[in-house]
Amino acid sequence: MKNAPASEKKNTDILSADAIKSLLPADFSGDLIVLEVTESTNLDAAKIVKTAPHGTTILADAQTAGRGRLGRSFFAPSGGIYMSMILRLNLAFSDAVLITTAASVAVCKAVEAVSSVRPQIKWVNDILVDGKKVCGISCEAVSAGETIDAVILGIGINFSAQEFPKELQDTAGVLFSKPPVSRNVLTAEILKNLLEETKDLASRKFIEDYRMRSAVIGKPIRYLEAGVRHDAEATGIDENGGLVVLENGISKTLVSGEVTLRIK
Ligand code: BTN
Repeated sequence: MKNAPASEKKNTDILSADAIKSLLPADFSGDLIVLEVTESTNLDAAKIVKTAPHGTTILADAQTAGRGRLGRSFFAPSGGIYMSMILRLNLAFSDAVLITTAASVAVCKAVEAVSSVRPQIKWVNDILVDGKKVCGISCEAVSAGETIDAVILGIGINFSAQEFPKELQDTAGVLFSKPPVSRNVLTAEILKNLLEETKDLASRKFIEDYRMRSAVIGKPIRYLEAGVRHDAEATGIDENGGLVVLENGISKTLVSGEVTLRIK
């Protein structure tokens, strides 16, 4: 029997709310909404964030206007996993950064549980496989005065083989060239882990798990501050998820932003 050409192959890996729910613990608190295509699951989540229960998640097979960090767009063609989870965690603004730190660990542990792939985390929260970004994570806070009422945690995963636009080809990669599990299985694992890892942010339990998967500790890095380029060496991750760097013999901690790895 001849294999069908790729273009004729049926996509049997269909995202399904029922399939994902069947893999979640019975006490999973949120609603699950799966869309074929949408502008951005973050925008969809923002429309229901005032009333949606903790854990509610919107998933899409494709996005036409995916939003990334730092005002960037996020490339989100059909076949990926694009999700926005609404979390109600009773948090101070200063602790919001910990959500994406914990979420990075949740995604890595989910991938490790279902496959032999061992992802790494590039500070703050890019997930890398073989040095290329396969997953981006964002966090938008919805405030109620001094505290955070809810956050919309956005996660975009390049799940399997796909074409990238020219400008992403050097830096973006895919999680699996041959997926060992369906998107539903990985999604359920991620959702479960997200609720678990963000349950007790104050304990900082996930920080050690984050450090163990760091792609930057011990490496030369570059970062921008007020438009100025700085070269330093990453030496650690502090208890608040900040990146400790050594620059001209002086140690300092970066609390937000982005770093690139320098090749020495
Ligand atoms: C980044 O790396 O810049 C963060 C990317 C976050 C992308 C996800 S995809 C699902 C959700 N919906 C969006 O529009 N963005 C997030």
